[in-house]
Amino acid sequence: MCGIVAYIGPRQAQDVIIKGLKRLEYRGYDSTGIALMNGGLNVYKKKGKVSELEKSLNGFDLNSHIGMGHTRWATHGEPNDENAHPHYSATKKLAIIHNGIIENYSSLKEDLERKGHTFQSETDTEVFIHFIEDIYENEKCSLDEAVRLALTKVIGAYAIVVMSLDNSELLIAARKGSPLVVGVGKGEYFMASDATPIIEYTNEVIYLNDYEMAIINKGELTIKNTENLPLTPYIQTVDMELEAIEKGGFDHYMLKEIFEQPRSIKDCMRGRLDSASGRLILGGLREYVNTLVNADRILIVACGTSWHAGLVAEYFFEEYCRIPVEVEYASEFRYRNPVIREGDVIIAISQSGETADTLAAIEMAKSKGAIIFGVCNVVGSSIPRATHAGAYTHAGPEIGVASTKAFTAQLIVLNMIALIVAQQKGTIPQQKFLELLIEMENIPEKVEIVLKHNDKIRDIAAKFIDTNNFLYLGRGYNFPVALEGALKLKEISYIHAEGYPAAEMKHGPIALIDEAMPVVFIATKDSSYEKIVSNIQEVKARKGKVISIITEGDTLIPTMSDHVIEVPKTIESLMPLVSVIPLQLLSYHIAVMRDCNVDQPRNLAKSVTVE
Ligand code: AGP
Ligand code: GLU
Repeated sequence: MCGIVAYIGPRQAQDVIIKGLKRLEYRGYDSTGIALMNGGLNVYKKKGKVSELEKSLNGFDLNSHIGMGHTRWATHGEPNDENAHPHYSATKKLAIIHNGIIENYSSLKEDLERKGHTFQSETDTEVFIHFIEDIYENEKCSLDEAVRLALTKVIGAYAIVVMSLDNSELLIAARKGSPLVVGVGKGEYFMASDATPIIEYTNEVIYLNDYEMAIINKGELTIKNTENLPLTPYIQTVDMELEAIEKGGFDHYMLKEIFEQPRSIKDCMRGRLDSASGRLILGGLREYVNTLVNADRILIVACGTSWHAGLVAEYFFEEYCRIPVEVEYASEFRYRNPVIREGDVIIAISQSGETADTLAAIEMAKSKGAIIFGVCNVVGSSIPRATHAGAYTHAGPEIGVASTKAFTAQLIVLNMIALIVAQQKGTIPQQKFLELLIEMENIPEKVEIVLKHNDKIRDIAAKFIDTNNFLYLGRGYNFPVALEGALKLKEISYIHAEGYPAAEMKHGPIALIDEAMPVVFIATKDSSYEKIVSNIQEVKARKGKVISIITEGDTLIPTMSDHVIEVPKTIESLMPLVSVIPLQLLSYHIAVMRDCNVDQPRNLAKSVTVE
């Protein structure tokens, strides 16, 4: 995810663009760049935030009435000056900014390299603009036609803007899967990832749909689709506050991020998983996959929510690969004298890639000769740089302190790693492997269905805002989900909550149960269903209040629960991806109703860079 802005009109383009990029920094800020037409098509770009770029522009004559800018959240290539956008084409006559991922960039790159192209960056985006230029030169067509033809050949997601040295009155934009808004002013046009950079100049906007292109040429706006059919622009008036637009209309980043999950889960699988062809690839693992296949033991190190994802992964690796797994709190692991033997492999999980304890655990394990894989969200952060190999979760920037979409993306990546290893090891039947690929592709839709219960979950939440304690219980794959549900509630609502394996209840926590104690059961229909039904009855017999997360159509558990939230049926190992969603929403609504600062809870920080 990244932020893009473009402008054409009588104002100084760089003023509009720099200001707009600052508003879009919530979408990512690992590097920034701008392209202007000031005596040539010039690109200025830099690692770091927009303010860094701004400082470096001092002293340049930036007079231009057309331009575009980008604030990056890297997906391909670490955040540095070269990988920052805009990117030039081979002749430097074209430049592009891009938000998204071009999945087939490596095959396009190979073709272009055969034709003699060389690349300055590691990005998919640079390949894209070379590809456009290649078509432009070969087809001898207009530039917008070349862009259109290129779009019909790329796979993936994009919002792009293209500028051309030969026409200082031309901006070409297109979208598929990544947002793009066109602002229509008097004698001027704007383009941006959302309306925040636009609304101080005009509130007339066009939200481009997937497969649509916007071409502004000599003051004229044309909209068409990638099949070349002209479209009538649908201009809307926005009257939202700036802050509300940044949060996509949601009240908090956390809620926005919860609702983004169908999309972030898809992004995480993009270009990696294709059930139709049975393809499952994680580029970052290729070199080391045999190390995992031959591992005697896997040690997973992480903190907080990432540690919970690690617990789920333990079940994946043991079920699919028959490799023993231990899941360690990074902080404990680093200060023990853990036994690390030849044949052990470490997997470090971290959203931020900066968690001090996880980083230190990696360094310690490395010093003992271990091979380390990373599963991180923030590209180019410290952990991916410290590990031997790894895979990014591509969930986009997570701003709410409570981790939500990063958790589900971690589960997807860990599941993919386990499946790749199992297939190569021969420990998973091909039929089951394919069923899992198909079902993973269905998960975004199933998460969408759970999100539709938001109002109901809010109503349930309203009944528990004055509660002091909560218990979360689950078994099997849903046990780590219980821990995650309890952590979410604690950190944002300040209500004490405990997660337990449901069967452990009778070894202690059952003493806490009375009519004031709400117990959340994650009781979906799986191999331990009957057992958890008994646990619910045990709580009911002691007058506890039962909130159950159940599989759609279950008629038994509703008879013994005070409240139920249904989730769609899925394969048992994938259930955490859907069963965690109601728990995220429940904690969110309770916290909001208790007037807590949901996005920045007290005493917490998004990345814990101190031990
Ligand atoms: C999750 O909601 C927390 N804010 C926290 O537990 C977090 O998961 C933990 O600090 C680990 O962070 P990381 O994934 O960035 O390493
Ligand atoms: N794939 C592009 C890159 O890595 C764009 C990423 C984005 O959307 O931020 O540079």
